[in-house]
Amino acid sequence: MSEEFGLTDRFVVMPREANHYGNVHGGEIMHAADNLAYLIASRYSRKNVVTAKVNELNFRAPVRIGDMVELDGRISRVGRSSMDITICIRAEKLKTGEVFEVADACFTMVAVDENGKPVPIKEK
Ligand SMILES: CC(C)(COP(=O)(O)OP(=O)(O)OC[C@H]1O[C@@H](n2cnc3c(N)ncnc32)[C@H](O)[C@@H]1OP(=O)(O)O)[C@@H](O)C(=O)NCCC(=O)NCCS
Repeated sequence: MSEEFGLTDRFVVMPREANHYGNVHGGEIMHAADNLAYLIASRYSRKNVVTAKVNELNFRAPVRIGDMVELDGRISRVGRSSMDITICIRAEKLKTGEVFEVADACFTMVAVDENGKPVPIKEK
């Protein structure tokens, strides 16, 4: 069940998210991926969660102003209080429909109580 638990996010790259030659900042992609990992882990555990680790984030191709970015996230491991969220990031040229791989990443999120201490989550 946990492998099926995921969400997708999409956004179009605006000039404010890019550098002066039109490529999106890597930090914008990281921010969107962290947000998605946070949402997935929160909805799965129904707890407060924090990002413990970004295991890997490999950028393969640049994204340009006007491209649509799509992030597809899934729970790939559930521990006692931690969850790994694997995120695949693609982009689409809106004028041509060309889709290309941008990056993939794995975030470890930990469920915490009101004091920020790890708490157990139940496998769904
Ligand atoms: C993540 C955090 C809650 C872990 O607290 P801790 O007391 O070290 O936790 P524990 O050693 O008891 O480990 C709890 C779980 O987290 C996992 N974990 C802790 N640190 C980890 C790390 N760096 N990478 C991967 N997993 C980690 C453990 O493997 C364990 O998993 P399990 O319960 O599924 O077996 C704590 O380090 C923290 O609050 N970090 C800051 C988080 C944060 O603010 N993130 C935003 C960045 S600004």
